[in-house]
Amino acid sequence: MEWEVLEDHARISERAAQILLDSIDSNPAVRLGLPTGSTPVGMYEHAVKLCRNRYHCFRDVVTFNLDEYVGIPREHPGSYFTYMRRKLFDHVDLKLDNAHVPWGDPAALKELFPEADFEEALALECERYELEIAEAGGIDLLVLGLGRNAHIAFNEPGTPHSSRTHVILLDESTRRANAPHFAGEEVPHRAITMGIATILEARRIILLASGAGKSSALEALRSGVISEQIPASALHRHPDVRILCDVAAAGE
Ligand code: GLP
Repeated sequence: MEWEVLEDHARISERAAQILLDSIDSNPAVRLGLPTGSTPVGMYEHAVKLCRNRYHCFRDVVTFNLDEYVGIPREHPGSYFTYMRRKLFDHVDLKLDNAHVPWGDPAALKELFPEADFEEALALECERYELEIAEAGGIDLLVLGLGRNAHIAFNEPGTPHSSRTHVILLDESTRRANAPHFAGEEVPHRAITMGIATILEARRIILLASGAGKSSALEALRSGVISEQIPASALHRHPDVRILCDVAAAGE
């Protein structure tokens, strides 16, 4: 695990965007795993800016998002699909057919799996998402954020490191942290998330952490202890992980 402690969030964003674009330069059809949350916003802004000077940028890129809320329509302002459209998809030449986000939208699940009830449809969607990643040839570069409780994607503490894409009940602390994106509406209680084993199969991983609020999660990661109570600690099992954090998150 390589650690890069940068000055601030802006430096993390520039560095992460550069890594993304370098991966596209070396393979225009690269398969990316992409995060949501506040931390990667700057990375997307910077990537979009860098792409303005290029002819084709994301034209052949394939993306897989880490997670999505269950129970809200895809067009809901709080959904991760909407987030991705606003931050990236609508600003680059990525084909929407190549942009994969798990379906947590009840109407879409009904259409995808007409014979199944809602719970069955969710389970089938998890299997379908895993298959989609496998059929694309796996993920070359996966970018992660970090929850305050050290969650990665939506894998909350206690999630087995062997987990595949699954439905998870969100911690109350996670729901509170994400409430600003729901403008007073209730934050969903569940989400579909790539599992920890799914994440660990990516060929290369970078994790972004910014601000003092992430310092205890990063400290737990830095301790080297591998535990299911610290979801991010599973990354110690991966051969190619780079942590991009700022001084505040590093507690320096
Ligand atoms: C959400 C996302 C995670 C993200 C985390 C941290 O829970 N599902 O993928 O890493 O938030 O978000 P932020 O960057 O806003 O602190």
